[in-house]
Amino acid sequence: MADKYKIIGPLYDFLNVVYGGKQFHKCKTAMNNDLKADDTILFAGVGHGRDAIDAAERGAKVTVVDLSATMLKNVEKNLKGKNFKHPIRLVHSDIFEFNEVGEYDQVVANFFLNVFPEDFMFKVMQHLATMVKPDGHFVVGDFHYPSGNILSKAFQNVYWYIAVGIFTVFAKNAFHKIYDYPKHIEAMGFKVTKSEDVNVLFVPALWSMKAQRKEVIKPQQKDVA
Ligand SMILES: C[S@@+](CC[C@H](N)C(=O)[O-])C[C@H]1O[C@@H](n2cnc3c(N)ncnc32)[C@H](O)[C@@H]1O
Repeated sequence: MADKYKIIGPLYDFLNVVYGGKQFHKCKTAMNNDLKADDTILFAGVGHGRDAIDAAERGAKVTVVDLSATMLKNVEKNLKGKNFKHPIRLVHSDIFEFNEVGEYDQVVANFFLNVFPEDFMFKVMQHLATMVKPDGHFVVGDFHYPSGNILSKAFQNVYWYIAVGIFTVFAKNAFHKIYDYPKHIEAMGFKVTKSEDVNVLFVPALWSMKAQRKEVIKPQQKDVA
C-alpha cells in the first residue's frame, strides 16, 4: 500500500512546532501524567512518537502502530540512544488489522481520528475502544471543537482548516469540519472523565480528553466532565 506520509512524514514534527510551538506536544502528552509504571498503552497512528516516548519514560509498556513506514522510521530515529524499563514495541500495520482486544490500560488516538471521514472515524474509534481493558481509558488529543465567543470559534476553525488543507493535499487525509469527539465518545458508551484545553495564541485550539466505559465509572466521577 502507498505510504501517504512519504512526502510530509519527514517534516511532520517540524510542522507541529512551526504551527503550534510546544503546544502540540503538550496536548499529546496531557493524559500521560496519570500513567503508572507497567501500564500497557497503545498509540494508534503514532506518527513520530514523542508522546509514546514520554509514556515509555514513565515506565509504561508501550506499543505503537502506524501504517506509514516513513512515520515509523522517524520513531526509530527519535528512539536512538534511549533506554526504558520496557522497550517500545513498533508495529507496522493498518489499525484495523491490529486486534489486541481488552489488552490496554490506555489506548491513545492523538491527531489520528481526524485523518478519516466522519462515518469511518466512528468505526475507527469503536475498533480502538475494543482494545481498552474493561476499566481502562480511551484518550483522544486533537483540534478543539469550536467553542466560546465568535472570535474564538473563528480562530479554531481557521486553525483547523489550514492544517486539514495541507494534510488533504500532501497526505490525502479527509477534508471535513472539526469533529465533536466528546459527542462521539458518549455515543460509544464511554464518558469523558478528564479534559484539558491547550491554548494557541490564548485560544483553546487543541484539547485532550480521557474517557472510561460508563458502567465502570464510580458515582462521584460521573459529574467530572
Ligand atoms: C496526522 S498523523 C498523527 C500522528 C501522531 N499521532 C501525532 O499525534 O502527531 C496520522 C497518523 O496516522 C497514521 N495512519 C493513518 N491511517 C492509518 C491506519 N489505517 N492505520 C494505522 N495508522 C494510520 C499515519 O501514517 C500518520 O502517522
